[in-house]
Formats: sequence, C-alpha cells, structure tokens
Amino acid sequence: MSELHSDAFVFFGATGDLAYKKIFPALQAMAKRGHLDVPVIGVAKAGWKLEQLEARAKDSLEKHGGLDPAAFATLRGRLRYVDGDYQDPATFQAIRKELGSAEHPAHYLAIPPVLFELVVEQLGKADCTNGARVIVEKPFGHDVASARELNRVLLGAFDETSIFRIDHYLGKRPVHHMLFFRFSNAFLEPFWNRYHVESVQITMAEDFGVQGRGAFYDGTGTVRDVVQNHLFQILSNLTMDPPVRTDSESVRGEKVKVLKAIPALTADDVVRGQFRGYRSEKGVAADSTVETFAALRLRIDSWRWQGVPFYIRAGKCLPVTCTEVVVRLRQPPTMFRSFELGPNYCRLRISPDVTIAIGANVIAPGEETRSQIAEMVGTQLPRADEMDAYERVLGDAMHGDATLFAREDYVEEAWRIVDPVLKAGTPVYEYEPGTWGPKEVDSRISPAGGWQNPTVSHT
Ligand code: BG6
Repeated sequence: MSELHSDAFVFFGATGDLAYKKIFPALQAMAKRGHLDVPVIGVAKAGWKLEQLEARAKDSLEKHGGLDPAAFATLRGRLRYVDGDYQDPATFQAIRKELGSAEHPAHYLAIPPVLFELVVEQLGKADCTNGARVIVEKPFGHDVASARELNRVLLGAFDETSIFRIDHYLGKRPVHHMLFFRFSNAFLEPFWNRYHVESVQITMAEDFGVQGRGAFYDGTGTVRDVVQNHLFQILSNLTMDPPVRTDSESVRGEKVKVLKAIPALTADDVVRGQFRGYRSEKGVAADSTVETFAALRLRIDSWRWQGVPFYIRAGKCLPVTCTEVVVRLRQPPTMFRSFELGPNYCRLRISPDVTIAIGANVIAPGEETRSQIAEMVGTQLPRADEMDAYERVLGDAMHGDATLFAREDYVEEAWRIVDPVLKAGTPVYEYEPGTWGPKEVDSRISPAGGWQNPTVSHT
C-alpha cells in the first residue's frame, strides 16, 4: 500500500478556513503541474450545492495566489461535493457513492479534532476505510493523553503507515532541505557537535497578531501552536544524526531519537508573554492567560549535544516576520587579546528568504585594532513556480511518502517535553506589540551573548 497512489481525495471541512486559505490553492497548483488526476470530493455541512463550493474555490484562489484559468478548469472538472451532517450515515453513503470505483481514497480531516472519532467511525461503517489513507492537521492533540487518544481512534481504522499527520513546516523547501545541507557537505559535520557549538537559538517571529483566529488561538497558545510541532521539527532536522538511508522510517527514526534525549521542560525553562491588546481580540477571554510569545531553553542529552543549551522563541506581534536559526561556536584561543572577538556562527534562515550564512571575525575596514563580524552569505529567493508547503505535503500523502509527516511516537515525545510547562501555570508577562517579547526573557532565557534578532529588509 505504501507506494500506491491514492485514487480519490476526500476533504472534510470543505467550506472552512483551511480549505479556503490552503487546500484550494494547493489543489490548483497540483492541477497546474498535471498532478491532479483523481476525483476531489469536498464534504461539509453548509446546505450547499456543488456550484457554491466551486464559487468558494474560485474566490479562494483569487485571494490566495491567483486564479489560473486552465488549472482551475481541471480542478473544477474533478470537484464533487457532499453536503451533510457527520452524525448521519447517509452523508457517508453519499461519499461512498461519489468514490465510485476508487479503492484507495485519501481522507483529509480538515475539521476540529473533536469530530475525528465520529468521522473515522462513520467512514468505517460506510466501507470507506479499507485500503484508504487518512490525513490530519496539527496540533495533534493538546497534550500526551489527548494525542494518545487520537492515535487510538485513528489506529482503530487505519494502520500507522496509512496515517499522515501534517506539519506544514516540513513541507517548506528550506526545512525539508536542511538535511541535504547538513549531510551533503563535508565542512559542517566536524563542528556540528558539543565540542564546537556553544549554543543554538531558533526564532520564529511574526509581526502580526492572531488575525481573526482569536477563539482558536485562545485555546491553543504559542507553545501548542508552533513550538511543539514546527519548531521541534526544525530542531530535530538541525540536531539528528545522519539516517542510514533516506526512506521515511530511517529519517523519522533518527528524529524520534533526538526528542527522546530531551528532558521534559520545567517552569524555569520557559518565559511566556502576551502582547498588549490580545485580550481585546474577538474570541479571546478578557482575563486570558494564554501566551502569544514563548521563549524556552532545553537540552539534548545525547553523545553529540550534551551540555549545549538550545533556545527557542516564537511570538506574535514581534518586530519582523522571520524564522531563523543561529548556531554559535565556541571562541577559539587567540593571541589577539586586545580585540573583542565576536562568536563565529552559522545562520540558517527559513523565511522570508532562504539564507545560509557563516559569521566570521575580520578586521574592521580602515581600522587596525577593531574586529567586526562579516558574513559569508548565500541567499535564494523563493521562485514563482516553487511548491507551496501544502501542495508538497498533500501530494506526498497521496503518494504514500510519509517522510514529511509526524509519526505517532514523535508526536507523543514532543508532548512529553512541553506537557509539564503547559500545565505549570507559569506567569504570562505583557509585552508591547512590535517588541521582542517581555523583558523577563533577557534575564531568564537568553543565550550567552544574547539573542540575535533577525532583521528583514523590506524591499
Ligand atoms: C500555523 C500556525 O501552523 O503556522 C499559525 O497556526 C502560524 O499561527 C503559521 O502563523 C505560520 O506558518 P507560515 O507557513 O505562514 O509561516
């Protein structure tokens, strides 16, 4: 089953936000590349007919990336719609009917996790799960216990090899290509370890707030929204040992080993913040203590990394939108004692541009006694025809390639690490929108030499 291509794509939540922002654009992009050759069945309970879904798809494409008339015509030709309640077996009989002769459908649950059990059960009863795949969104559960419960529900109807847990960060080209950069170059490996690395920092900054998703965000917070999934995936790609092969299980097995080496966080390892004004957002509780910013410190107790502190911070309403990693190296012994040398570092930027930079000490121009950091930089700007993360992950799921998806054990390990602090009720400090989070971060969770704030040039 693993290499088989899905012969139908069914997406639940077809009238929802995710479909509007991400799924229709990804489907159109697949159609444009000639990759959409199966029926696409949208399912929702909206009292709609197919024409309304088509109009919604058109509107979605006009707002998100642009309508391509030929590709849209292909998508439209494949699109079907089933309207109905998820409680009602008739809805699932209608799906079965639309599936026709398809034997290996991919069911994408772009719906709230509370509905998973019901939908999976109904799919089973309507004979839609044999030979099928299921695709689910993050956050996968909200702690270890709920993730296990979700796994129990999914594993009741699908094997692990047929379950695809999306973390769209893994579908981003630079995240996906981190392993290639690490394991296809000779120069990096000798210093990529505890003997040479002093600290590692990962920043995911967004210069906007919750953008109308207040109700979702207030039940989630930064750690659950982006740290436990997106940023841990970046951390794993940065720190895992080389897999012996490139198949999905070899790669995912190495990632799980990294997480297993990370002790669970304690309250001292985290500073949480909330931007001023968050509590007035629609859908947010007036006394909310949910974080819109988090900075945390963790260790990886492995042969390669023991003793190296890792710092992660993420937040909304920060000064820029940028995701970047800085790996700082230890100072070399030096006879240039009168110079204030800066740390050498390797900087990997994931977005908005893709950059790999090495920071090195050089004599400042025009001076003989002062050092400054010069960067050797390689930058790639995204290409217009580049695959978007959703196009990549949905395409991979339909091909049965699980490399870019979170495995059951990975998800549970990731929750194990953050669970204690999520439950510790640590204070949430207010910060001004447009700043780098609460001031407590600098005194409590800060690498030696401080955070290196990314700058983004707006051209
Ligand atoms: C999502 C989070 O998973 O990722 C959002 O729910 C966040 O809060 C988004 O803004 C960031 O993803 P991207 O692809 O826009 O960088």
